[in-house]
Parts: sequence; C-alpha cells; structure tokens
Amino acid sequence: MTKVPIRPAVAALPTYQPGARPSARLVYKLSSNESPYPPLPGVMAAVADSAVDLNRYPAMLADQLVEAIAGFHNLEPAQVAVGAGSVAVLAHVLTAVAGQSDRVVYPWRSFEAYPILTGITGAKAVPVPLGEAGRIDLTALAQAVDAKARAVLVCTPNNPTGPAVREDEFDSFMAAVPDDLLVVLDQAYVEFVTDPKAVDGIGALARHPNLVVLRTFSKAYGLAGLRVGYALGRPRLIEAIRAVTTPFSVSAMAEMAAVKSLELQDELRRRVAGVVARRTFMQEGLAAQGWDLPDPQGNFVWLDLGIDSAPFAGACRRAGVLVRPFPDEGVRVSVGEQEGVERFLEVASTWV
Ligand SMILES: Cc1ncc(COP(=O)(O)O)c(C=O)c1O
Repeated sequence: MTKVPIRPAVAALPTYQPGARPSARLVYKLSSNESPYPPLPGVMAAVADSAVDLNRYPAMLADQLVEAIAGFHNLEPAQVAVGAGSVAVLAHVLTAVAGQSDRVVYPWRSFEAYPILTGITGAKAVPVPLGEAGRIDLTALAQAVDAKARAVLVCTPNNPTGPAVREDEFDSFMAAVPDDLLVVLDQAYVEFVTDPKAVDGIGALARHPNLVVLRTFSKAYGLAGLRVGYALGRPRLIEAIRAVTTPFSVSAMAEMAAVKSLELQDELRRRVAGVVARRTFMQEGLAAQGWDLPDPQGNFVWLDLGIDSAPFAGACRRAGVLVRPFPDEGVRVSVGEQEGVERFLEVASTWV
C-alpha cells in the first residue's frame, strides 16, 4: 500500500463509465454515440502518410489543423485551440478559469465528464436539474450562477437526452449572466441538428466575448478513435487554454485526418443526412409503439425508463445490441447500423 497522499478532490471523483464494448458474439454497439461509418474517403490514406514520421513529435500546437479550422469557421487561428478530443479541451478550458473555492455550473443529467472535469479543478460542482422533456432549463441555470461561479457548461444537443438549446433562450441566458462569466457551449453533436430554432454557436461567438464553443471530430466526422476536438473563442481565452494544454497532445495522424476530413464537406453532409434519416426512422418507430421521446437532435435517442433502465439494457444485450443505461434514469441509444437499430426497436416494442 503506498503512503503517497492523493488530493481529496481526486479521491472523490466519480468514475467515467464508457459505453459497453462488443464481445466475441456479434453485437451492435449503440452505446457510445459513435459514427457507424468508416472515416471519410481519403482519410485513412492521410493517416498512413503521416504515420511514416512516427519517430518525430507532431507540431506542438497542430498549426495546420488550427489554420484549417479557423478557415472553415471564418475565424482567426488565434481563436482556435485543439486537443486530444473535446473532453480534453474542456478539461483545459476549466483548468484555465476554475480552481479551489470556485464553482462550475452545469445542467444535469448531461455529459458525464462534466462532474469529473469540474472535480479535477478542485472547484465545486453545481448541477442544475433539467426542465421538461429532457430540455436544459436555462432560466434555472442562470439563477444558479453566483459570485463564485467561474464557468457554466451548456450542452447542445444535450447528451444524453437530445434536445437542442434554442437561439432565443440562449440569448436571454447570456443577457442574464455576468459578462465576465465563462460560458461553454458544448456542440459535440451540432452537425446532426435539424431544429431550425437551435442556437448558432459560431454566430453567438461574435456577440459574446465570454463564450467558448467546443466541437469535435469524434461524432459526425467519425474519428473518435483518433481523438481530436477544439475550442473556439476570443484570443485571450484561447491563449489561456493553450497555456494549460498538454504539449504535443494531438498526434500528426490525428491532425492530418482532421485536416483532410474538413475538406470533405459534401461527403460529410451525405453521411449526416443518412444518420438523421435513421434517427427519424427510430423516432417514428418508437412513437408508433407508444413511446414519448424528448426531441432527438444528436445521433442518439433517450428512453426515459427510470428503474427499468438496467433491465432494458440487459434485454437489448441479449438481442445482440449494446445500449447505454443510466441506472434509474433512462437509456441512451445511438443511431448506428440499420440492423442494430431494428433489433433495438424489436426489444423496445416489448417494453412500452
Ligand atoms: C456532449 C459531449 N461533449 C464532448 C464529448 C467528448 O468527445 P471527444 O472527447 O471524443 O471529442 C462527448 C462525447 O461523448 C459528448 O457527448
């Protein structure tokens, strides 16, 4: 037994539960909101090309990718910070602004990394219950902000429940919170959003100097295994985020894969349309069975199963489908392969 003291804040952290992984038996993995598609055409070749230089460190700040992202969003490179997945970028964002005796406010249930990343900073977590129909209650979120709050996390679409934050409610929220409070808009699933009233994160950046937008290549772009995400914001915030970023954390392979993927917007749009069509198929199938779902705006649906969540996930597993139960709350099911989706719908039909 080691006698090395561990920081109490670290000893108290909840554990991140990854989505279940397939075993030897054929299973469909609808448990981690991944893309069912392989990387976009040409991306594997870009990865292979950059693998030749594996004996070399990558560019420390992934400059080529930073330039490409800035160009894509019509921003300056000084407004872009990259990292090994948006979860790492969020850790850096929080490290830059929050510490002991500070507070971080976020909706709950939402992305399960929020309490962990908040805990690591030593700040106190302030979870704010969701409102009706799995929607983030932005009024309650603004009311939870006090003088000690350093950051508010807003997840849109909200993982795991699905609805997107609307532009008008976001603007009212920004007007209600202090202008020196950092607001993080986590848009990991933005490419799948079809709600015409959903907030436009990039547009909001121009209006709000205290806003940081998070994006990822893990979901729509299908690069979850390579780990690339980024933050967009004012140069002073980005400089602080970069200052706490682990050096060389985006590999050259990940950088080149992301640069190449950004160039393939037509193919990306086709794939996103495929996912959205299958999401509608799931939504309509479930509605026909009698389920009442929150509005799914990401690549997943949420079944509000309460205490039946774990048994339902067990029934899906027996049918060869891995889903993500949140015990006593609900079950999140990713929009995956058609066969997996159909098997899931069969199980769901016996549980309404
Ligand atoms: C809301 C949200 N934000 C961020 C992430 C992190 O994604 P990554 O670290 O792969 O970019 C996820 C992953 O599931 C997510 O659901």
